[in-house]
Amino acid sequence: MLGTVARTMVKAGMVKPSSLVKPVSVTRIAGRYLAHQESLPKLPVPPLQQTCDRYLAVLDPVIEPEKLNHTQKLVEEFQKPGGVGERLQKGLEGRAKKTENWLSDWWLQTAYLEYRMPVVIYSSPGVVLPRLEFSDCQGQMRYAAKLIAGVLDFKTMIDNETLPVEYLGGKQLCMNQYYQVLSSCRIPGTNRDTVANYALDKKSPTHITVVHNFQFFVLDVYNSDGIPLTVDQIYIQLEKIWNSSLETNKEPIGILTSNHRNSWGKAYNNLIKDKTNKESVRAIQKSILTICLDAPMPRASDNMYPTRAAVQMLHGGGSRLNSGNRWFDKTLQFIIGEDGMCGMIYEHAPAEGPPIVALLDHVVEYTKNSEMVRIPMVPLPVPQKLCFNITPEIKNDIEEAKQNMNIMVHDLDMKVNVFSHFGKNFPKSQKMSPDAFIQMALQLAYYRMHKRCCPTYESASLRMFRLGRTDTIRSTSIDSARFTKAMDDPTKQNIEKVALLEKAIKAHRAYTDMAVQGQAIDRHLLGLKLQAIEDLAALPEIFMDTSYAEALHYNLSTSQVPAKTDCVMCFGPVVPDGYGVCYNPMESHINYSVSAFNSCKDTNASQMAQALEDALIDMKTLLEQTPKSKL
Ligand code: COA
Repeated sequence: MLGTVARTMVKAGMVKPSSLVKPVSVTRIAGRYLAHQESLPKLPVPPLQQTCDRYLAVLDPVIEPEKLNHTQKLVEEFQKPGGVGERLQKGLEGRAKKTENWLSDWWLQTAYLEYRMPVVIYSSPGVVLPRLEFSDCQGQMRYAAKLIAGVLDFKTMIDNETLPVEYLGGKQLCMNQYYQVLSSCRIPGTNRDTVANYALDKKSPTHITVVHNFQFFVLDVYNSDGIPLTVDQIYIQLEKIWNSSLETNKEPIGILTSNHRNSWGKAYNNLIKDKTNKESVRAIQKSILTICLDAPMPRASDNMYPTRAAVQMLHGGGSRLNSGNRWFDKTLQFIIGEDGMCGMIYEHAPAEGPPIVALLDHVVEYTKNSEMVRIPMVPLPVPQKLCFNITPEIKNDIEEAKQNMNIMVHDLDMKVNVFSHFGKNFPKSQKMSPDAFIQMALQLAYYRMHKRCCPTYESASLRMFRLGRTDTIRSTSIDSARFTKAMDDPTKQNIEKVALLEKAIKAHRAYTDMAVQGQAIDRHLLGLKLQAIEDLAALPEIFMDTSYAEALHYNLSTSQVPAKTDCVMCFGPVVPDGYGVCYNPMESHINYSVSAFNSCKDTNASQMAQALEDALIDMKTLLEQTPKSKL
């Protein structure tokens, strides 16, 4: 189970995987990826009236009746025949005809590249892997070597276009995100960022970057004949890096990437004025991925391990610990501590959690299924250390970034739980959707703690459509509110509570189906709003209404990221008084992370994690204690 699983390390050598999550085919199938992409349907624009009706329905449990009356009038005005809603809808439909996906670029800009908060905690998710069984640098480098070889194995499928197509509900999914995560990096700007993907360059990158003691190195991971280095070879190269970076007093240049995006954008322009700095930064940006060889953290008990590891993945522990041992703009960063703490952090702009975790599942399996195949060693060049010229101005920027990072570290309240009473198996045995069951438990937990229902976000995949990203499942519904209010009401009979729970779960599942089919409301409303901005028209009143702002204030921001590996993803809350909850429902247990901010006196991650555990148990007890025949 997470945090207690010990992995058997084998001596470094060429890895011969036996049962990988995705089988690697060696033959290139040119054009397969594009042919698949072109076969996918385009994201639809939902009907205007449907979205307006559903919008009012989702507001019902979270908006006061008086405000709701006012909003109802605004919505009526918005959607009346010949009105502004119809005009914007036509604009959106026109955009949908002209583009591959009417939403994806707008979403990339609005949700990520124009978002100015630091990527650390506010945007980039972390993933915690089970603790590894080593506590020295040899173990650390051996594992890192195998992990790198595992990623290169996965990369072969991307390069050869042989990645097995994924399915959701029997439908093929868009595979584009897999092509966006290697050799890519976010680049800061003073008021908006960009993402660069070097994988499609004429000469695609053949190196990774490794950071140890805040010092960055370029490690070429392919031989001159294009064959990836073996685990043995990578290990030897990592040893050279380790030995060239023993000093611990270096400036943590990477911490600059943790700052507020505008500040980092300004600092970046200053940093790359120097030619050496520019070349070093470019080497990091272009690299296939970054490996962070972290210094050991204080040893945690098995119970505390997942929580400690989660914060380590999200922010690195502060400027005195490993926060400077990162380049937070890098899309993929694997983190391997000398103490066996292991996981990753990824920059969210190019991809969602599921493709990242699928890659991770493959890599973890690769590192497990290994056998020694020694091969004669060809001497390899020493990995190049990346140099930075630190001017007094850059030093100031580093100091400012350190201070901000330490404030963020202190503010993050995190709890990771391994819920061991049951997993997906129990809801399935009750013929209920496990995801909807967990979401209703979250609703109950929040209601018990805060005595109200709150706007809740759950990510729904839009990958059934070409270039699809996500929409929002609004877990708080009229039915969920009825259930949460009834659950602890002593005047209600169990049989009634069960009926309300079943109805709430069905409503959640129905919203999920609607969302994954591109018929949810949130991205459509955003599209209508952005269309108005693009038309340089006045913003319709429904978007200036307080109900709209309140509906987007997600006190619960949640996501299911299922994995084959016993891991858990984690991320920060999206509002100052909210929670970020991510869960991996395994067959007989559930790993989940809960985050909040210490600066908010109303929230508490540990209490919320406990409330979720209690809610899950109470819902199971309720179902077990209520005889089926009476339902
Ligand atoms: N009775 C019995 N079994 C049921 C059931 C029922 N009524 N309803 C569902 N199940 C089963 C399913 O068949 C499935 O079986 P499996 O474990 O063999 O695959 C399992 O329970 C899980 O189904 P469910 O819990 O309903 O969830 P889902 O797999 O349909 O996922 C979402 C729901 C919303 C998570 C998914 O559609 C999605 O969009 N995922 C992407 C989220 C994302 O992008 N997150 C990243 C953000 S960074």
